[in-house]
Amino acid sequence: MNYNGTHYQTIWPDPQNKQQICIIDQRKLPHQFIVEKIATADQMITAIRDMHVRGAGLIGAAAGFGMYLAALQAPDASFDAYMLAAARSFDASRPTARNLMWAVERILQTIAGAPDPAAKKAMAYTAACSIADEDAGFCKRIGEHGVKIIEEISRKKNGAPVNILTHCNAGWLAFVDHGSATAPIYAARDAGLAVHVWVDETRPWNQGSRLTAWELQQEGVANTLICDNTGGHLMQLGQVDMVIVGADRVTHTGDVVNKIGTYLKALAAKDTDVPFFVALPSSTFDWKLDNGMDIPIEQRAGEEITTLTGKDIHGELRTVLLAGEETRAANYSFDVTPARLVTGLITERGIVRPERNAIHRLFPEEGRS
Ligand code: MRU
Repeated sequence: MNYNGTHYQTIWPDPQNKQQICIIDQRKLPHQFIVEKIATADQMITAIRDMHVRGAGLIGAAAGFGMYLAALQAPDASFDAYMLAAARSFDASRPTARNLMWAVERILQTIAGAPDPAAKKAMAYTAACSIADEDAGFCKRIGEHGVKIIEEISRKKNGAPVNILTHCNAGWLAFVDHGSATAPIYAARDAGLAVHVWVDETRPWNQGSRLTAWELQQEGVANTLICDNTGGHLMQLGQVDMVIVGADRVTHTGDVVNKIGTYLKALAAKDTDVPFFVALPSSTFDWKLDNGMDIPIEQRAGEEITTLTGKDIHGELRTVLLAGEETRAANYSFDVTPARLVTGLITERGIVRPERNAIHRLFPEEGRS
């Protein structure tokens, strides 16, 4: 990922002290770029729950490193019990996100075979680094597969810009690098294709206006911010060639849970024959649940809807109240897009129909339930 011309990843062990993990505090973007150092498992849980870090892959990587920090703190005499309690706390911090549980489980499984606490700590570190590296690798390969769809549209349009609509931020800020929904876009840019991105604002947390628009600007990709209600209108006007969104959890039957509002975009895309793609690494699949409606949907504080934080005319960050003081708000963070509304899933192994048999053929090592 590119910030002011310098390459970054979104999470990394502090080179001066490997017992600390560096993250970029996304609550302050795009106005301030602040690197925060995380030294304890509790600090990492807070960073995940309060969205200093967010997005499917990054939450997974953060949980992996958080479990490593828990291992550093765990008393030798009760090491395993301590790690299990830490795992439960991480799992509860963002209950919808599949990558989080996947990463926590992977650390637990990795250290289970180690002979003593010292070996478990070392293995937790190696496993956390592998989770982060794999996440970046998965996204790169998603880009290599997804770019083929953009190439085809570009050919049909004789090289005119391909207009892609995206919702929320499934960019490099949501992963360790590249992003899922953005990886095909960056690959298209690298291949010299003309692309333009319609960026949904994504109320209430505004991942689109605060993060996606900013990161696309950093990468030099043409983009236009729109409010969340605009996408359907643009699709009716023929100004959207395809939709690519990310996912927080996808069932092995192809139902997609993603940021609230995704379902409405998928309905509009279906009505207007706009292809609707979901980009995800395999670590986002839920191999057990058949029905997306069974996935727990996180509800967050109503203040995310009734207030807004931004830069005032003096350059200071300020939070203002948008609604009346007595207003109560219901803040559902995600919704379910049924498989029937999805054109295809772009994974690190290729593009697949959102359908149980096709998904299992691509990932035969995952048992069917
Ligand atoms: O609440 P967030 O910002 O952590 O939500 C996750 C997301 O960023 C989106 O739902 C995204 O589209 C999928 S994550 C790649």
